[in-house]
Amino acid sequence: MEPTIHHGLAGVYFAESDICHIDGERGELFYRGYDIRDLTEATYVEVVYLLWHGELPTAKQLEDFRAELVPHYPIPDKVMELLLCLPPGTDPMHMLQAAAAMLAAFDQNPDEIDPDNLRRIGLSLVVQFPNLVATFERLRRGEAPLEPRSDLGLAGNFLWMLNGEVPNDAAIRVLNTALLLHAEHGSNASTFTARTSASTLTDAYSAIAAAVGSLKGPLHGGANEAVMRTLEQIGSVEKIEQYVLDTLAKPRGRVMGFGHRVYRVLDPRGKILRDVAEKLAETSSEAKYFHMSLEMERVMEREMNARGKSNIRANLDFFSASVYRMLGIPVDMYTPVFAVARVSGWMAHLYEQYADNHLVRPRLQYRGELGKRFVPLAERG
Ligand code: COA
Repeated sequence: MEPTIHHGLAGVYFAESDICHIDGERGELFYRGYDIRDLTEATYVEVVYLLWHGELPTAKQLEDFRAELVPHYPIPDKVMELLLCLPPGTDPMHMLQAAAAMLAAFDQNPDEIDPDNLRRIGLSLVVQFPNLVATFERLRRGEAPLEPRSDLGLAGNFLWMLNGEVPNDAAIRVLNTALLLHAEHGSNASTFTARTSASTLTDAYSAIAAAVGSLKGPLHGGANEAVMRTLEQIGSVEKIEQYVLDTLAKPRGRVMGFGHRVYRVLDPRGKILRDVAEKLAETSSEAKYFHMSLEMERVMEREMNARGKSNIRANLDFFSASVYRMLGIPVDMYTPVFAVARVSGWMAHLYEQYADNHLVRPRLQYRGELGKRFVPLAERG
């Protein structure tokens, strides 16, 4: 009997999980049972704790968790040397992937997959990812790297290390919201990559480096950068409508930042970020990109409805692009910032995968020829 092929594994469940629930029909997202809309009241570090421990921390647990993060802040000297020897034009996602793998080389115990060791690696990566991204940005601008400031928290320290100024509370709050919204999203492509890698019982660093590579693609985390590049190329609100019409007229034309494998209605994270962007736009000199985004959303909604595809709505990456723009983050750093947040979700999934491991190994239906006769090299014409 011919097997059923599930292209892109759409609709296929490969494990049970306690981490995240997405209701794509209702546009709802829950981390460990908490509605994402309620979690925006929390900070990113509380959400990391929630994802790893299954429950929000008490004030004392949060204080202890923050203290556990502190020793992990400095970038190892040799990893800093790696950053220094990369050409300034290096894609920051390539840097992050290389650095994630290299951090294993400076870990005395990279291979153990027991929960305590995994937690130690997770603490390190959650701090190292923002530090690496910010430091790389400074180095390529020709500026000296800054000492991390753990007292500013994960989001505040990232902005500090990026800009060399203590960020104001409003900027920290916006980045906290963006990070916690990006932290986790079930079996998305990069998390599936992380879990698939872990299912071979390889080490956590290898699984995370693989996930970084998967996130980079424009159909996944790379979409936020693609959205901003598109808006830059279009240039003004007035030109949005024609751009959308021209793109949709092309075979397989895609407007970046729209559509989702699971959501059939507006991505709840997109809605939250739209509100955040609207607030930022009140005072930002880059508000133009938010106004262009609103126009693009309006035209896309009209056109998709007209084509009977009302389920193609703005996703998380669509409004995160204008939020990052208004926060002053360079465009090719948008996907690395996504990785800075998602590494916490990847680690939560690694704990789960290693705890109840089954090798992930789907099949391909062979459709080529069989029984070909081998011809020695000298006789092949
Ligand atoms: N622009 C225009 N049309 C789109 C679209 C988009 N961004 N996304 C999906 N569609 C349409 C497709 O044309 C397709 O129509 P068809 O069935 O007539 O060919 C239909 O919706 C289904 O799209 P498909 O690509 O098969 O769905 P998918 O579940 O495989 O893909 C994405 C999901 C995310 C890869 C896809 O929506 C996309 O490429 N979006 C743009 C990239 C993006 O924003 N990625 C970030 C995701 S969070």
